[in-house]
Amino acid sequence: MISTKAKPNWAGDDVLSRFVNLLIQTKPIYQVMKSQARRVLIQTAEKNGIPWRETRRAFETSGIDQTLAAVNNPHIVYPDYYQVPFHAYDQGNLCWPAAFEAESATYAMALRVWPDEGLTWQAAQDRLRGSFHEVLAQHGPAHVQDILDMGCSVGISTRALHDYYQARQNQTKQTLSIRTVGLDLSPYMLAVAKAQDPTGSISRWIHTKAEDTGLTGASFDLITLQFVIHELPRKITQAIFKEAYRLLRPGGCLAIVDNNPQSPVIQNLPPVLFTLMKSTEPWTDDYYTFDVEAALIASGFEHKITVASDPRHRALIGQKPIG
Ligand SMILES: C[S@@+](CC[C@H](N)C(=O)[O-])C[C@H]1O[C@@H](n2cnc3c(N)ncnc32)[C@H](O)[C@@H]1O
Repeated sequence: MISTKAKPNWAGDDVLSRFVNLLIQTKPIYQVMKSQARRVLIQTAEKNGIPWRETRRAFETSGIDQTLAAVNNPHIVYPDYYQVPFHAYDQGNLCWPAAFEAESATYAMALRVWPDEGLTWQAAQDRLRGSFHEVLAQHGPAHVQDILDMGCSVGISTRALHDYYQARQNQTKQTLSIRTVGLDLSPYMLAVAKAQDPTGSISRWIHTKAEDTGLTGASFDLITLQFVIHELPRKITQAIFKEAYRLLRPGGCLAIVDNNPQSPVIQNLPPVLFTLMKSTEPWTDDYYTFDVEAALIASGFEHKITVASDPRHRALIGQKPIG
């Protein structure tokens, strides 16, 4: 599942990569690609049973604005890197359409991992999360009570992680409940996350920057970044690692799952797909050329493992030393 090449030729400073970037920077071409990408994404999702437009319409008439007011932190100053167009939304993650469609987009993403196995979108999502939880079970912290999911978006990763650890806790007949917190910089995403968690299984949905949370130090056993860092400039990822280190108790772990630069599937994506991907995710080149393990170590972590968790993604775990 691992290529000997460190990264795809379509990312970084290679000729192919620079050619693709030139195409994307050509405004009229970018506009066409953007709407094309969106159309194909929605069509493919709906063909596979994901009710994309129906879900969006249901949110539009749900009165969710009140939930937005409840989660919104008015003191946030949004950094420049966060205010660029993203995933074909001109306002990036800072708008309702992005939040209303995030759930469907997340389900569609999991289906792309196993395209030939005839999985339902629910089964693909379970398998995607399960493969990360398996790495956590083997290499994560032995004791987990307090969890923080950074970049939680609409809370799919947060709820799956919480349910996994709560089930593990129940199996061992421990009485304490797992306390899980979701954190994101988009209040729109958080409003949807809160609305989708009506029983309040997640302790808090926090609207803040992962690189500067304002939370109490040494208060978590496990922090996750699930499919977040490929969407960030590396200097922000480095700052987030430092903040995660501060927030973890000694022995606690930072666990990451994200696109695997060494995945043969990712390296051999058809040109149309990698061009579309680069055109809608502005920090792609930075991510694919970034030495994540070195950054973990530079922040004080012991690098425990990097492993291909599925055909497209890798999981990495850094542990805060005990002594
Ligand atoms: C692809 S989504 C994550 C998906 C989710 N973790 C999952 O696995 O389904 C990336 C999320 O990271 C959030 N994000 C990006 N930069 C952030 C930052 N500096 N602090 C907090 N959240 C951030 C975005 O708002 C977005 O909701």
